[in-house]
Amino acid sequence: MSNVRSLVQPQPGAPVVLLASSRSDGNTFTLARMVLPEEAAPLVDLGALNISYYSYSHANATDDFIPLVEKLLGAPTWVLATPLYWYSMSAQAKTFLDRLSDLLAFRKSLGQRLCGRSLAVLCTGTDPQLPSSFEQPFELTSKYLGMAYVGTFYAQFEERSLVEPSIIGAAQALGRALLEEASNPSIERTFQRPLRALWPAAHVERWAPAK
Ligand SMILES: Cc1cc2nc3c(=O)[nH]c(=O)nc-3n(C[C@H](O)[C@H](O)[C@H](O)COP(=O)(O)O)c2cc1C
Repeated sequence: MSNVRSLVQPQPGAPVVLLASSRSDGNTFTLARMVLPEEAAPLVDLGALNISYYSYSHANATDDFIPLVEKLLGAPTWVLATPLYWYSMSAQAKTFLDRLSDLLAFRKSLGQRLCGRSLAVLCTGTDPQLPSSFEQPFELTSKYLGMAYVGTFYAQFEERSLVEPSIIGAAQALGRALLEEASNPSIERTFQRPLRALWPAAHVERWAPAK
């Protein structure tokens, strides 16, 4: 089993990035570090952890998932970074979301602590835009868990390069906004726009209105 304690070191009042790609140093990692550099936010490579599929019998209750969540609860904002794989989130991202069901079943005290936290999504792909269906699982799952869904920032890559380097400024501005929000617990975590304005409209098909 991996040593989650050494792999995950959330800093109080700082967001934590969850990298959910099949490449630890791929485009999604590049985007994540563009938004939140190493000194600003810790990054957890979900692929480096032992997290298996959801089990109805909780047969995997001793894998890395529960120790990971115990660590993540130290961070006010979770930034899930996923590539677009077949028009949807990666298997690593989906498995992480599926396993949150553990917190509604046998670790309810942890599940209750999700309430009030924020979930932001970063995504890379080669298509010009996200499919319209992409955001809904994040939006609805966040709502179900009492988390504030921030939105999805999408960046188009060709091979290993950004198609539009001009979005770097927007990515950095988003990172600053995430840091500011995460460090100020008195702000209600609804991410009412102006944050929305930071998303590159050309890359996002649809915005989920703040509830
Ligand atoms: C299995 C697989 C499926 C993919 N499906 C899509 C897709 O549906 N739409 C898209 O735009 N790009 C797709 N891509 C391209 C990746 O999303 C893109 O190269 C991404 O930036 C890779 O990020 P990574 O380096 O973190 O893996 C796919 C790539 C792979 C390996």
